[in-house]
Amino acid sequence: MIKGDQNVLLQLTQLSKNFGGLSAVQELDLTVRPGEVHGLIGPNGAGKTTVFNLISGALSPSQGSVRFKETDITGLKPNRIAKMGLVRTFQSNVLFRDFTVTENILMGYHLDAGFGFFGDLVNTPSVRHKRKQIQEKTDELLRFSGLEPIKDIQAVNLSHGHQRILGVSIALAAQPALLMLDEPVAGMNAEEKHSMVELIGRINQKGVTVLIVEHDMKVIMELCHRIAVLNFGVKIAQGTPDEIQANPDVIEAYLGAEEP
Ligand SMILES: Nc1ncnc2c1ncn2[C@@H]1O[C@H](COP(=O)(O)OP(=O)(O)O)[C@@H](O)[C@H]1O
Ligand SMILES: [Mg+2]
Repeated sequence: MIKGDQNVLLQLTQLSKNFGGLSAVQELDLTVRPGEVHGLIGPNGAGKTTVFNLISGALSPSQGSVRFKETDITGLKPNRIAKMGLVRTFQSNVLFRDFTVTENILMGYHLDAGFGFFGDLVNTPSVRHKRKQIQEKTDELLRFSGLEPIKDIQAVNLSHGHQRILGVSIALAAQPALLMLDEPVAGMNAEEKHSMVELIGRINQKGVTVLIVEHDMKVIMELCHRIAVLNFGVKIAQGTPDEIQANPDVIEAYLGAEEP
């Protein structure tokens, strides 16, 4: 892929966040190109989730800027950023627990269409048409994410792996250009990890750019085209999986973090 502005989807410039005296993210420069799977790794407390919060608008930076699709989105509200196509999942599950899989995804589409919770009360022809479209898209997404066989099960009764897949599917209902995944395989067994990695690969193949935070190095190395490494809020390396695995600073940061 050629470098240049038209090949930049997300650009962080000198992005910093302080919590009181703690510098959680320091002068971070990071570029995500359209079409890639970009990893963000680092020991616990390195600032990865804070970076996601800064990008998605959940936190405003102390300094620096976030550009998405050539627009400065620094300080915009999360729902406006999501509407532009920058959508995240959370480290823990955020689902409508008592709703079925289908209802959760329908709700994702309804919210994206601006229907809100009470959209069903209105019954004009245009709303009926929109509702039919949403039902079709929901069916398609259920098939795409492999949730079709369990579509009538309540979210609360799903396995952990399926809950996380549902979380990603709800994010897909918002039709992201850039999908940010925070530890998508955390707490999963080998089989669940495999399903999630396979799904992320297919999402990327559909043209969705992915920014992923994950501790599982096998998953990161398998999925990512490029990886940035944070340590104590500072980017210490960026490169291809091979470059990152061979980088002495990265090895030291990880080995250092494992000491008692
Ligand atoms: N809202 C907050 N208020 C104060 N400190 C925070 C807050 N969020 C994160 N931190 C601190 O910032 C640092 C980075 O945290 P985080 O971004 O969650 O790291 P990671 O996701 O890489 O494990 C940690 O020291 C954490 O305790
Ligand atoms: Mg985190």
